Amino acid sequence: MTIHHLEKNNSILNTFISEIRDITLQKDSLRFRRNIERIGEILSYELSKTLSYASTNTTTPLGVKNSNLFANDIVLCSILRAGLPLHQGLLNYFDGAENAFISAYRHHPNNTEDFEIIVEYFAAPSIENKTVLLADPMLATGQSLVAVYEAIKKHGNAKQIHIVAVIASAEGIDFIKNHFPENTHLWVATIDDELNDKGYIIPGLGDAGDLAFGTKL
Ligand code: URA
Repeated sequence: MTIHHLEKNNSILNTFISEIRDITLQKDSLRFRRNIERIGEILSYELSKTLSYASTNTTTPLGVKNSNLFANDIVLCSILRAGLPLHQGLLNYFDGAENAFISAYRHHPNNTEDFEIIVEYFAAPSIENKTVLLADPMLATGQSLVAVYEAIKKHGNAKQIHIVAVIASAEGIDFIKNHFPENTHLWVATIDDELNDKGYIIPGLGDAGDLAFGTKL
């Protein structure tokens, strides 16, 4: 797996990351969602540099200009509900993409810290020979991503998988490395060292779904 860790190079991206982490700013849910979207847009731009391009003529009112235009069949796949603002950021740039949505949640069968990932709702096109972008804003244990990959694999053989994450834990990255094809790319805005015993990223930002959409029962 090739890992692209964008925060390592100074850019305006680091301001957006700091704002979603900052306890004094992150409770403004409009700003939180929009910052996740902006991070998704920046990750899309960087990722787009590694896709395929084809020489194409564009006719203007005054002539014809030849340029290399992006030529990929893209499927964006996101996990409900926390993935929605990141999905929107990717879709803002890859606006011709097809879309897949999946629900995956942590089930605690014994009311302990242990959990299993339950996948329920799943709506996806064929991914046969397509470039699949799997969006997961918080790559914590990596278990949800792997569960989603197992589900989407039933819809065909992807040409290439790109995982797109806002915050990843080092442990989550180690876990997914063993479950995805070797030519998979991970595009991650920032990486944190720790996971707590509830599977939350430390220092992370808290619960991304709650910050974007409010608390749930
Ligand atoms: N999901 C979140 O929203 N936050 C984490 O830290 C881990 C998973």
